[in-house]
Amino acid sequence: MPKRAHLFAGILASACIATFLLSTIFVELFGSRPSVANLKSLIVMPGLWILVPCIAIAGGSGFFLAKTRKGRIVDSKKKRMPIIAANGLLILVPCAIVLNRWAAAGSVDTTFWIVQAIELLAGATNLTLMGLNIRDGLRLSGRLRASTPAAVQART
Ligand code: HEM
Repeated sequence: MPKRAHLFAGILASACIATFLLSTIFVELFGSRPSVANLKSLIVMPGLWILVPCIAIAGGSGFFLAKTRKGRIVDSKKKRMPIIAANGLLILVPCAIVLNRWAAAGSVDTTFWIVQAIELLAGATNLTLMGLNIRDGLRLSGRLRASTPAAVQART
């Protein structure tokens, strides 16, 4: 059960961030002001209400699964998790909330774009770290083959 929850929450959290990132870039490049405001609102609700619990479940279940595992791959996953959590809670969530307020109020000015750039950067960072955690997770579960003898050894 924790394994399934971990897999599901990890993949869903990553899919959320990828969706927020790509839809933001797409709508801000090609969409109208109302569609930008609409997207910003959807990212907060339901977006953050799906993303934040998924990150928490992925992290919690990950540390639970790691109780019986040792090795370099597990250590790397453990080190990435606090960065993913801090980036999510301290940067992505506040950015999404203020951008939503500003877009709804029609104040799309320089400050909006600076915060937007910070949000995109934090989103891309989290997506990369979560992607690495997925790759390492699939190696740990044996679904993805470790490519070198050193990588095989790191699994144990
Ligand atoms: C958002 C962060 C994370 C994501 C996206 C993620 C993703 C994944 C994925 C996709 C799997 C493969 C599951 C399967 O094939 O059934 C996995 C397995 C695993 N993950 Fe994570 N993970 C994350 C965080 C963590 C953390 C913080 C730990 C703690 C060290 C951890 C420990 C593990 C372990 C031990 C496995 C292997 C489970 C097994 O088959 O025995 N994960 N992870």
